[in-house]
Amino acid sequence: MRILLASPIDPKAVRSLRRSHDVHQLSTTEPGELARAAADREAVVLRSGVVLSSDIMTAAPDLKLVVRAGSGLDNIDVDHARRRGIRVVRVAGMSAPPVAEFTFALLLSLARKVTVADRLIRIGEWPKPQLGGALLRGKVLGVVGAGNIGGLVGEMGSAWGMNVLGCVAHPDGRVATELAHRGITLTDFDDVVDRADFLTLHVPLDESTHHMIDGTVLDRMRPGSLLVNVARGGVVDEKALYDALTEGISVAGAALDVHESEGEGTVSPLAELPNVVLTPHIGAMALDSQRLIGERVTELIEAFHQGTLNEEVRDGEHVV
Ligand code: MLT
Repeated sequence: MRILLASPIDPKAVRSLRRSHDVHQLSTTEPGELARAAADREAVVLRSGVVLSSDIMTAAPDLKLVVRAGSGLDNIDVDHARRRGIRVVRVAGMSAPPVAEFTFALLLSLARKVTVADRLIRIGEWPKPQLGGALLRGKVLGVVGAGNIGGLVGEMGSAWGMNVLGCVAHPDGRVATELAHRGITLTDFDDVVDRADFLTLHVPLDESTHHMIDGTVLDRMRPGSLLVNVARGGVVDEKALYDALTEGISVAGAALDVHESEGEGTVSPLAELPNVVLTPHIGAMALDSQRLIGERVTELIEAFHQGTLNEEVRDGEHVV
């Protein structure tokens, strides 16, 4: 097959695909370049940071398969793919453990001021009394979107001795029981926001979640609470977050792995604030996980090539 790797994936998977396919790797996310590179391709593999719009798919008449090497679908025009009969599959489950672990990396960096301490010690300062932080044990962890990733975060929080509250888009008794077994109390969004000392976000980005964390929600957060966003940038109104963090009445700090504007050359206005930790969308970047994701991408492409994709796809992988 003629394959475009529109985002970097595990090098072993690239070598494996090259053995039996014509593989072109793209090193830019610029839409014009992407359209040119996709023009003669039958399959496109992508991660976040690349937008597969209807214009780009229209410029690729032979396109038959899109493989999302991750779970988020906010960067793919799925309706266009459906209309054209282009298959879309994603590698969903494997990014949950790395993103859940990374949520704790951010939570702890924020709570214990690890990144601030690192910056200061590098310039010869030893500001021990100023670097007091918060304990996680005994605190309320609020998980917005207690699904694949959020559920795992809740389970980890419970193991840390936190009191974990979670909310989901479609709550019912079965979900409540399942979460309770993992140490998570199912409640509603408002209750999670009102009671959380640490609020973590794990919802997909769509119309219903865009700016879900806006000025009103931020104002309602507990004084001194901390916010972690590993979901999608658009879930948080970053302008409102900047204002809330500057005022310091409710939310006291934030760690963001995802941003309203992402990519090379982008500097978030939040970078001015000392009570913020910023990382470049690396939640899923545990190399062990990327190796597994790469293997699964290869398996899905081979299955499509052999005409056995329907038998190959697992729960959560089928999109179109
Ligand atoms: C995902 O949706 O799985 C993550 O954003 C990982 C990525 O594609 O970079």
